[in-house]
Amino acid sequence: MAPTRKVADVLRGRAAFPPPVWIMRQAGRYLPEYRATRARAGGFLDLCFTPELAVEVTLQPIRRFGFDAAILFSDILVVPHALGRDVRFEEGRGPVLQPIEAGEIGGLDQSRFHDVLAPVYETVARLRAELPPETTLLGFCGAPWTVATYMIAGHGTPDQAPARLFAYRQAPAFHALIDRLADVSAQYLIRQVEAGADAVQIFDSWAGVLDEDLFERFCVKPVARIVEAVRAVHPQVPIIGFPRGAGVLVEGYRERTGVSAVGLDWTVPMAQARRLQQGGAVQGNLDPLRLVAGGAALDDGVDRILAGLGGGPLVFNLGHGIVPETPVAHVEQLLKRVRGAVR
Ligand code: CP3
Repeated sequence: MAPTRKVADVLRGRAAFPPPVWIMRQAGRYLPEYRATRARAGGFLDLCFTPELAVEVTLQPIRRFGFDAAILFSDILVVPHALGRDVRFEEGRGPVLQPIEAGEIGGLDQSRFHDVLAPVYETVARLRAELPPETTLLGFCGAPWTVATYMIAGHGTPDQAPARLFAYRQAPAFHALIDRLADVSAQYLIRQVEAGADAVQIFDSWAGVLDEDLFERFCVKPVARIVEAVRAVHPQVPIIGFPRGAGVLVEGYRERTGVSAVGLDWTVPMAQARRLQQGGAVQGNLDPLRLVAGGAALDDGVDRILAGLGGGPLVFNLGHGIVPETPVAHVEQLLKRVRGAVR
């Protein structure tokens, strides 16, 4: 009999209480063992592309906390890297890319895409073999809009002004970039599923800076295109969409994109989250700073989510990634609170 993987089950719409739990960026700098492996790897991309090390850091939070899901250790920016763009991660600065120009988009080189990403697929396969059978293995990619923001600006910005201006001023080239990213991202997710991922998440971390028109064209449509392409090959695989910061535009996101589950950031009000949950699973949405603060701020935040969303299909998570200054003891407190919950 196939093992029960709670996160995957809930993503398909089956409620469980207490809910299963994992944390975005659960393998990261708040863990001393991550910092040690990271130092050994040299560059951040070396860590992503060395299966032995990527497997090790993916498993670290599973060993320490027994989360219900493991997320492949990689980054959304391996996709532009695999399209031949220069991508670096600089200490204290985050990602730095060579900003793409309109004239370069048609010439993006896809010929080595899967070869460059082969170590990622190997990491997925090794992870599925090594993980406990009940632990869901999540693959992921960045949504085209979010990946495009880094490709265009060449680094993170607070409001993605360079990418928004590019979309307005050079619309045909921008469309071509988004379509290309949607196609290769779908191929990338399909390979992850074939290597052993039980479900996948599409991170649209910068969905929150677009007006309604651009949100529809550059967040909803390309994610729908990815979902359709993945489902054509793997109709059953759960897909989580995470349109961070979308506000009221998250209404109908599941129906319009076809994702199985919607990831919610911490600003989504409970009434809206409950409405979204009528259509299927939701994931989230504790403020990561409640986890930094600990104490009553953490307990109250957990209790509120469990009371509001615990009656339906919920994957407990933060509303965005865990931050490096989070005390490990607070993660233990969160897990105890979620897992000890009674209704
Ligand atoms: O544990 C996990 O969640 C899996 C690994 C993972 C990483 N990045 C590792 C990482 C995942 C799922 C991501 C996704 C990612 N990467 C997103 C979407 C989610 C989000 O947080 O909004 C984005 C926007 C990126 C791009 C990116 N990568 C940025 C902006 C940065 C710098 C910011 C930072 O936190 O330093 C990264 C670097 C990065 N990716 C780190 C990790 C653990 C930290 C770098 C390091 O260890 O040196």
